[in-house]
Amino acid sequence: MKKIYIGMSADLLHPGHLNIINEARKIIQNEGGGEIIVGLLTDSAIASYKRLPYMTFEQRKTVVENVKGVDEVIAQETLDYVPNLLKIKPDYVLHGDDWKTGVQAQTRQRIIEVMKEWGGKVIDIPYTEGISSTKLNKILKEVGTTPEIRGKRLKRLLNSKELVTILEAHNGLSGLIVENTFIEEQGRKIEFDGIWISSLTQSAAQGKPDTGYLDTTSRMATLNDILDVTTKPIIYDGDNGGPCEHFIFTVKTLERLGVSAIIIEDKIGLKKNSLFGDMVEQTQDNPEDFALKIKAGKQAQVTDDFMIIARIESLILKKGLDDAIKRAKIYLNAGADGIMIHSNQKTFDEVREFAKIYNTIENKKPLVVVPSSYSEVFEKELVENGVNMVIYANQLLRAAYPAMLKSAKSILKNHRCKEASDEYCMKINDILTLIPGGF
Ligand code: SPV
Ligand code: MG
Repeated sequence: MKKIYIGMSADLLHPGHLNIINEARKIIQNEGGGEIIVGLLTDSAIASYKRLPYMTFEQRKTVVENVKGVDEVIAQETLDYVPNLLKIKPDYVLHGDDWKTGVQAQTRQRIIEVMKEWGGKVIDIPYTEGISSTKLNKILKEVGTTPEIRGKRLKRLLNSKELVTILEAHNGLSGLIVENTFIEEQGRKIEFDGIWISSLTQSAAQGKPDTGYLDTTSRMATLNDILDVTTKPIIYDGDNGGPCEHFIFTVKTLERLGVSAIIIEDKIGLKKNSLFGDMVEQTQDNPEDFALKIKAGKQAQVTDDFMIIARIESLILKKGLDDAIKRAKIYLNAGADGIMIHSNQKTFDEVREFAKIYNTIENKKPLVVVPSSYSEVFEKELVENGVNMVIYANQLLRAAYPAMLKSAKSILKNHRCKEASDEYCMKINDILTLIPGGF
């Protein structure tokens, strides 16, 4: 009885995968019997090197279990095959021969070495041309997503990544940047996990102060522009959520649109941006009253997927760590799905102190930070301190404004647009073709 091991993600099962399974079946026939075991990568294993799969682990497992020839599907918890191989000691590992080059070459080599221990072999199956998960992914992105799939995605990301990274968008174009920008780092595709609909940058983009002047209808119009052109999960900056009676409507609207979470801050009175700190008068809500708002929101939502994240302003308002922790406990007990701790200090120190104590709370939920002021902090340090989500809350708008200002001044100074065009602008052809479908 030969044992064949095939590792796969199987999110978009295509003829390439089936070809490998068929080759495994042939080997079993030729060698007089055996079994095919698929090591199905878990969401965490996949998220460690690329985009979270469309289907959940359970959905993918159901599909693969029903593929002809597959005898067993087990979880492969890491990108590394070795822990499963040591348990199963298969005679063969089959994989498409594309892994002989590039980043997977090392993985392959390691498998070959480990399999030598019991005389197992790696068999490389000629790659099926014309189809690949990357191609299918691109097509799927063009098709778009549904509110239900998008809405669920944030919780899945929080369950499968050590740090979820979110970047601000304030219109369709900046939404596209968050959606599509990626880099390759040591063979891993690195991209943002989701989009922050910031009240600060949306107000600024519309030439308005961040005082809650933009009403919900206006906020929703921009949100819709971003929903239209993206598929990633969305976190909505709900300021203080407004009165309870309004908040429950906002929750229902956002959930219906496929937004994954709202963050509301424990302040009352005329909205002032937190980063002003004590330069302006800001009033914190009574924690019990704020807890009632969280409860009302949780009761209003229809599914279990939508998240209400409570934002604590105690550090901004110099109320101290004890007050912040006390509030975290009250908000968690009221049903908050996460806590955002805000700070306008230049260093990570006070947030680190908060995180240390917060992480000892028994019913703690994901911890969210916004390092606009303490921008020197690396993601690695956030992870080491038990932070689950980082929101880069305003960088795209802040990056765009100086370039626009320089261009405007250059045209005034030079009495023509050549200098501005050459120095600060993208090429005309590039802007014409920036968005596909323009001609
Ligand atoms: C926003 O982006 O609007 C925020 C974060 O709420 S902050 O501006 O830091 O208050
Ligand atoms: Mg805001």
